[in-house]
Amino acid sequence: MKLHLINGPNLNLLGKREPSIYGSQDFETYFQTLKTKYPQTSLTYFQSNSEGKLIDYLHEIGFSSDGIVFNGGAYTHTSIALGDAIRAIHTPVIEVHLSNVYAREDFRKVNYIAPACLGSICGLGIHAYELAVLHHLSLK
Ligand code: DQA
Repeated sequence: MKLHLINGPNLNLLGKREPSIYGSQDFETYFQTLKTKYPQTSLTYFQSNSEGKLIDYLHEIGFSSDGIVFNGGAYTHTSIALGDAIRAIHTPVIEVHLSNVYAREDFRKVNYIAPACLGSICGLGIHAYELAVLHHLSLK
């Protein structure tokens, strides 16, 4: 089982960035822990601040990966192109957000990613990534 976790813009700063909203855990440490918890699963992590690089990566893995967990960051609320990229690939994508985007500013309620995804998890903090992994594993 090959699963891919993808983070979009500013999520490289998790742990440092607005910890009252996004928590104080850095993603790399969390990812290493996740890998040790699921040794039978091939887990790969990719992060980019660039919309085009995220689209290229989705195209690259989206026909061979068994499942994608994607946090599009702020591109969630702006990027028709990322929504189209998810529709274009074959791998099921679960969208995650650490914060509850529906309890925040109105512009975060606009979402171009969720309608293209299998499902969404938001507001449960960094734990969302593992929940999404567990769901992908349950589908195999
Ligand atoms: C986020 C929510 C987005 O609105 C925001 O732009 C982010 C992080 C989240 O994980 O809660 O960068 O995707």
